[in-house]
Amino acid sequence: MTLNIRKIREDFPILKRKVYGKPLAYLDNAATTQKPRQVIQAMSDYYENYNSNVHRAVHKLSQEATQAYDDAHEKVAEFTGAEGIEEIAFTKNTTESINIVANSLSGKLKKGDEIVLTQMEHHSNIVPWQQAAKRTGAKLRYAEITGSGELNMQQLQSIISKKTKVVAFTHVSNVLGTVNPAKEIIAAAKEVGAITVLDAAQSVPHMPVNVKGLGCDFMAFSSHKMLGPPGIGVLYGKEDMLEKTEPLLFGGDMISEVSFQDASWNELPWKFEAGTPNMAGAVGLAAAVDYLQKIGMENIHEHEKMLTARAMKKLAQVDELTIYGPEAAKRGGLVAFNIRGVHTHDVSALLDAQGIAVRGGHHCAMPLARLLGIAGTTRASFYLYNTPEEVDKLAEALEMVTKKMKIATIRK
Ligand SMILES: Cc1ncc(COP(=O)(O)O)c(C=O)c1O
Repeated sequence: MTLNIRKIREDFPILKRKVYGKPLAYLDNAATTQKPRQVIQAMSDYYENYNSNVHRAVHKLSQEATQAYDDAHEKVAEFTGAEGIEEIAFTKNTTESINIVANSLSGKLKKGDEIVLTQMEHHSNIVPWQQAAKRTGAKLRYAEITGSGELNMQQLQSIISKKTKVVAFTHVSNVLGTVNPAKEIIAAAKEVGAITVLDAAQSVPHMPVNVKGLGCDFMAFSSHKMLGPPGIGVLYGKEDMLEKTEPLLFGGDMISEVSFQDASWNELPWKFEAGTPNMAGAVGLAAAVDYLQKIGMENIHEHEKMLTARAMKKLAQVDELTIYGPEAAKRGGLVAFNIRGVHTHDVSALLDAQGIAVRGGHHCAMPLARLLGIAGTTRASFYLYNTPEEVDKLAEALEMVTKKMKIATIRK
């Protein structure tokens, strides 16, 4: 179904604003997304009408806040295909979710064990594993990427062995846009009994993702990348896996019994939610899930595929512009590129002057940038509210950038 973008855009007040007198084209959705009125209102309603701490008091406000907080877990469980709220822990973000798993496995890994990652990981799915490897003596191994920015599946299969204890990888690359064959990778990991961790920061917001269909042990994603507020994220884990996982934070609400010398943990998922949680954030995330479900994840994915194909076609016509990553059909809704001889920050600044918000830099994937032999890229990333006209505007502005740069070079 084609999206009614005009109607969708009416839900996002920020999209009406002008930047330097020009209409805003917000193409930085891989970094964070804008929020619809429905999310903003749900959060205001929480603060105006039933703000209270959860899981503690018996008073009416606390009951209402607790109900909304628990319902948000339920909603996310249903959205991702999890069995129930036992499998859905709220964290701060994707980064914290992955840290919980890596930290817990630090207590179980040993010298000789191997952790398999890919060369296209975000720092959030590299650094926690480096720390785990340093603490335990386990070795990090990397699945390589091909010239077209896809995973070399043959090489990946070849490094998965009996020594592999963890396979952690991104579902969609935040730089190359590549959609990785998650099911196939998870199946390969399962054959050797390895634990699988899916970084779904760039997939859950943009396409249908079902944990049971994929079969992953853990999955991490962030609310702020899917129309929800920042400061709340999700760690999905199979119930038996989460039972075996140690919490990262200790304190109130995550306990069952505490004595002066010892403590035992609360049931799932609360043992991972120490201290007062982000109640308004949970309410906002639930409203974001409602919004996405109403539009339909398949429809959102199709819309982004259309925008990406258009962007790749138009950008390929811009002089001196190199696009990184695979063909449009194999990627999510983002395109990273460079213009020869122009620094990514200059490209971003020149686009910003036209009201086009993109991101320049290494996108928290420094090892990948080094591998590609570049300092960074400029990245345009799309979402359900972006229009084909915004893509055209981007291409036209980039034409202007190359023209400007050519003139500047001739003058030199
Ligand atoms: C693929 C990927 N993984 C992890 C993250 C980290 O997300 P957060 O900063 O919300 O923890 C990002 C954020 O850009 C990402 O793109």
